[in-house]
Amino acid sequence: MISKTEYARRRKRLMTMMGPETVAIIPSAQEIIRSRDTHFNFRQDSDFHYLSGFNEPESVLVLIPGRKHGDFIIFNRERDLEKETWHGRREGQQGVIDNYAAADAFPIEDIDDILPGLMEGRKRIYCAIGNDKEFDEKILAWLNALRTNVSGAETHGEIIDVRHFLHDMRLYKSPAEVKLMRTAAQISAKAHIRAMQKSRPGLCEYHLEAELHHEFARLGARFPAYTSIVAGGENACILHYVENDDKMKDGDLMMIDAGAEYQLYASDISRTFPINGLFTKNQKIIYGWVLKAQLAAIETIRPGACWNAPHEAAVKVLTKGLIEMGILKGRLQTLIKNEAYKPFYMHKTGHWLGLDVHDVGDYQVGGEPRVLEPGMVLTVEPGLYISKEIKKVPKQWKGLAVRIEDDVLVTEDGYEVLSKDTPKTIDEIESLMSQSAA
Ligand code: GLY
Ligand code: MN
Ligand code: MN
Repeated sequence: MISKTEYARRRKRLMTMMGPETVAIIPSAQEIIRSRDTHFNFRQDSDFHYLSGFNEPESVLVLIPGRKHGDFIIFNRERDLEKETWHGRREGQQGVIDNYAAADAFPIEDIDDILPGLMEGRKRIYCAIGNDKEFDEKILAWLNALRTNVSGAETHGEIIDVRHFLHDMRLYKSPAEVKLMRTAAQISAKAHIRAMQKSRPGLCEYHLEAELHHEFARLGARFPAYTSIVAGGENACILHYVENDDKMKDGDLMMIDAGAEYQLYASDISRTFPINGLFTKNQKIIYGWVLKAQLAAIETIRPGACWNAPHEAAVKVLTKGLIEMGILKGRLQTLIKNEAYKPFYMHKTGHWLGLDVHDVGDYQVGGEPRVLEPGMVLTVEPGLYISKEIKKVPKQWKGLAVRIEDDVLVTEDGYEVLSKDTPKTIDEIESLMSQSAA
């Protein structure tokens, strides 16, 4: 759990970076209609959550450095017994003061009347302009209200993107965040193991999806961090395959890319295994290359390494594999330079991971690739995708696809694989699949 003091620390840090005579305005996520009058499950906006831990829609968080009566204000829904009876509990204004350390709280309906006053005298407005058109318009309306007021207070109303600071903060995970991410990865590991053990020809992909989600929820992670990918056979050539409704065939591989979200922190794990529990000779070969690429990529991770180093290491091994498999012909260096591997490996080897699966944080600083530092978490996810659509590929490889993905924390002296409990050697997978799930 993230403590109240950690949330307070984050707000203070952001306000220190913002400086005096500023204000930050950050809206919550909104409920989204799925169909007619049913909604998708509510997921709080990650920036809003990062600064408050408050989990209701229709809220706006305001930070006002140096404000005499407190620098942290929330606008949120009022308590309403009838609405709460139908739709769920609300904290109300007193609730966010008592439980979320807001200095002041006001009904969201009153924001147009109150917020311009709070912005008075604040020369720079920090917000995420361009993120939500409707909210952008509100900010402009509040600024205009401020400009046309008669108090005579000086206001320049310069708008600055709060994400520069906020997303850089989110890139460096605190010990408490790492703990949650480790738990998310451990839960996912158990779910992947369960899916492997439940796999057999004749099931549908969504049966394994159900096994994954069963294990997530059973272990305290009710929702996946992203739509689970359960791709049998050639479906795995579609990188973000989410239909998950095909029959699972004897002799095919299964590629699962699924991760639990634990207290809003994501995990993101991919594993590939034979549906019937035993790899064929050719499956072992292609799997072996991807695993070798993944291990080489992980080995590059340490403070001071370039964030792109895992990708370069993976591309080298994968291209070598493609040559050895007779899929590519030519000199290794030339093929790498010409990106000849791209039809079979078209994505990057990883991304930041945190509150979001493709987490925030710049990949370049001052035009240079970012250098890894302790506390950053990234995925390492090489793959090979030999689509049947691609011509001139020896036929034994056609339709095979493998991705292996782990979540890796940069530590003081190297790395920690947060998802290390998810088996990935051929022997581990085959032995595990010979035992059935509890
Ligand atoms: N699960 C999406 C990704 O691996 O990036
Ligand atoms: Mn990923
Ligand atoms: Mn993934």
